Amino acid sequence: MSETAKVLLDGQECELPVITGTENEKAIDISKLRDKTGYVTLDTGYKNTGATTSAITFLDGEQGILRYRGYPIEQLAEKSNFLEVSYLLLYGELPSASQLTDFTKRITRHTLVHEDVKKFFDGWPSSAHPMGQLCSLICSLSSFYPESLNPNRSQEEVDLSIIRILAKMPTLVSWIYKKSIGHPLIYPNNNLDYVSNFLFMTYGMRTEDFHVDPVIVEAMDKLLILHADHEQNCSTSTVRLVGSSQANPYASVAAGVAALWGPLHGGANQKVIEMLDQIQNDGGNTAKWIEKAKDKNDPFRLMGFGHRVYKNFDPRAKIIKEACDNVLNKLGIHDPILDIAKQLEEVALQDPYFVEKKLYPNVDFYSGIIYRAIGFPTEMFTVLFALGRLPGWLAQWKEMREAGQPIGRPRQIYTGEVKRDYTNIATR
Ligand code: ACO
Repeated sequence: MSETAKVLLDGQECELPVITGTENEKAIDISKLRDKTGYVTLDTGYKNTGATTSAITFLDGEQGILRYRGYPIEQLAEKSNFLEVSYLLLYGELPSASQLTDFTKRITRHTLVHEDVKKFFDGWPSSAHPMGQLCSLICSLSSFYPESLNPNRSQEEVDLSIIRILAKMPTLVSWIYKKSIGHPLIYPNNNLDYVSNFLFMTYGMRTEDFHVDPVIVEAMDKLLILHADHEQNCSTSTVRLVGSSQANPYASVAAGVAALWGPLHGGANQKVIEMLDQIQNDGGNTAKWIEKAKDKNDPFRLMGFGHRVYKNFDPRAKIIKEACDNVLNKLGIHDPILDIAKQLEEVALQDPYFVEKKLYPNVDFYSGIIYRAIGFPTEMFTVLFALGRLPGWLAQWKEMREAGQPIGRPRQIYTGEVKRDYTNIATR
């Protein structure tokens, strides 16, 4: 017999189904609760609400486990590459050699962006934040593919939109960077792999002069893999929610970019470097800043620390910390903020405030130091996060559409005024 949960409300017992996931996670299905009892559940910030079932990513925050389609993140980061991981997320299985070749070819064929897109850059002030530009650019791409506006078209047409977004994103991101430094925009070189092509468009000028250090390509590829999906986080839930209204995939992904921008989510990687610079410029007294982070009357938070679901360690942070040491050593860079970051981590991990609240470094704590070593300005960091998260957003959007999920529409508990009559302005 299938498991059920009983809720006692107003003296009446109501039985609700229990759903069990493949990793034995359990949920009470409350979708009929209101019909049966008149009650809704209240969970501000969705701290304990499963918004969907999903077969894409599993994470266990207590044990620090993260798997894409069952494969541990540690194995994928070490052995796979970003396009293979993208395929895995989108289609559910690791590709065969011919499937990967075909997928790579399809992506490569669509890297070019419509020439008119360049005109958008003329409209923005030079101080425009890269995330605002990326959000607008992705959404605007839908205007060049009007057929994509209907996400109910054939599987092949929807798949083409997904391929186009994945293919054009590195071009858009590199153009945002080039424009910010006043350099000419570089067209893709389709003889290069996905990451090298992105680095070429970002740092190159002419194909014949372009040389990229394999250490940088490897580091970039690893960072993209580590960011590729993270189940129902703020931006991914946003993509699914927007997509649930049958908005097109460009608009849905653009909404994800907007959600990622915030400093409590993807925007934290920029804030971490700003914080580390600030601490360094202030003399590098980490103990002082730890005390500030603990002070409830001080708005300062240790950026890159804490996570809604990881309460032991963030497995991505562990891999990135190692990669960070490795990349800086190989590139012969000594960045003093890496020392400050390590000191902060050491002090925080022994401090009862952080221990009791289970606050550990998250994915953003060390990633920015690698981005900086590669040569990206701080404002580009969250855009790089978006580049990595893209296949996850698309896979989640695709899963939601294929499952025919209903429009997302939470309820609320109204706490405003009860009914009252309109009064004439003269009497107020
Ligand atoms: N520094 C100091 N105190 C913190 C921090 C921090 N970084 N993070 C949480 N706390 C404290 C809170 O003040 C709170 O204390 P209280 O219980 O005494 O009120 C307690 O720990 C719980 O914090 P919440 O904000 O309630 O936890 P929540 O799960 O809602 O938030 C979040 C998680 C947003 C990531 C939070 O830890 C934070 O703001 N971290 C800094 C920003 C950051 O690094 N964001 C990136 C997250 S990873 C990502 O999105 C890709």
